[in-house]
Amino acid sequence: MDSIIVTGGGPLNGQIPIAGAKNACLALMPATLLSEEPLTLTNAPRLSDIRTMTELLTSLGAEVAGLQGGQVLALSSHALTNHTAEYDIVRKMRASILVLGPMLARDGQAVVSLPGGCAIGARPVDLHLRALEAMGAELDLREGYVHARAPRGLRGAVVDFPLVSVGATENALMAATLARGTSVLRNAAREPEIVDLARCLRAMGAQIEGEGSSEITIEGVARLHGATHPVVTDRIELGTYMLAPAICGGEVECLGGRIELVGAFCEKLDAAGISVEETPAGLKVTRRNGRVRAVDVVTEPFPGFPTDLQAQMMALLATTEGTSTLEERIFENRFMHAPELARMGAQIEVQGGTARVHGVERLKGAPVMATDLRASVSLILAGLAAEGETLVRRVYHLDRGYERVEEKLGGVGARIERIHGD
Ligand code: EPZ
Repeated sequence: MDSIIVTGGGPLNGQIPIAGAKNACLALMPATLLSEEPLTLTNAPRLSDIRTMTELLTSLGAEVAGLQGGQVLALSSHALTNHTAEYDIVRKMRASILVLGPMLARDGQAVVSLPGGCAIGARPVDLHLRALEAMGAELDLREGYVHARAPRGLRGAVVDFPLVSVGATENALMAATLARGTSVLRNAAREPEIVDLARCLRAMGAQIEGEGSSEITIEGVARLHGATHPVVTDRIELGTYMLAPAICGGEVECLGGRIELVGAFCEKLDAAGISVEETPAGLKVTRRNGRVRAVDVVTEPFPGFPTDLQAQMMALLATTEGTSTLEERIFENRFMHAPELARMGAQIEVQGGTARVHGVERLKGAPVMATDLRASVSLILAGLAAEGETLVRRVYHLDRGYERVEEKLGGVGARIERIHGD
């Protein structure tokens, strides 16, 4: 298993290119299952999760080719030869559940393994299933698998989500494009990844209105055609790299960044005393002298502060002046980075879904363990500002969501190195 060594040091300066969004791409790729014609995704990120989705789609009979070093994905699913998403792939990546809606909508049958629990929370998929049931799917849960059938095809329905779910909105949205009649998704997720998926589906011939608001209306069509679609910028990678100069000092321009992707996050940076400026190429983040101010953060569905930036924000708040409160409202167990940051000298008290972070002058390097994707990168950010060396173990989590992290951070002056292990 690889590890990463970070040596804390001075300010960071330069530019970091931001990739296409992992979480958008993981929803866009299954959209290929909705059409017999090819779908081309440009600006795709090169990540292990994308390879896992490739493996899953291929197992269903789709063809996926990575062109231009993986930045372009050419997908085609002329005919599906298998309708079962096996546990061995699904257990590696929960986003696998996103093949359920499209397969069912296209062929009236799908068998998908239930993903099971996850390090950050229970993460059930009941909302995905309820939405498809409302569209007329017959579901049967047997031996850890969802067996779904819609022998006469799906029909449009009003789906009122009791809570906002990104994945359930995506599954329902894709399924509704080929359902008979009109579907209305109420209390739908409003994330930029949903908007991106709706745009791609529209380019494929779907009739969709209201994406980006909490009510999406879909008029089902008989078939979808091929399209080429650029994956939206990764707002979480963007926020993560915006935090690097905020934590270490210096000035970094994140290329491809846009304020509307990270509005609530930028408000918190501003309150903390970090300057964010829009440039023609992206967003420039500057931290000059002095300590950053404490701020309180509550994670919420978009347009609120994203849960996927909570761990990285904690790394910043660990060295601010004063005490900050971080409230995690999306996942019930997403503070596993707190005890690891504490090994580096951070003073954090966690009680249920709330963490109180008492800023210290400086963190100290230490060996730490990455527990999930965003936790891993928060430890790297903390290490960049800490005194001495930080060894982050189990970085395979990191490779699921950050491409070429050593290169990107190294390019702005960070001292970071990967150690290849077994
Ligand atoms: C997506 O997960 C992202 N993953 C997550 O990214 C992100 O943290 C999350 O949205 C929230 O923004 C992908 O897009 C691939 P949800 P998803 O359904 O869709 C509960 C990362 O680091 N819920 O919006 O699985 C659920 O338990 C990650 O890149 C149900 O109760 O999240 C959670 O508490 C990790 N029943 C809440 O809703 C359901 O059927 C929101 O989850 C579905 C969800």
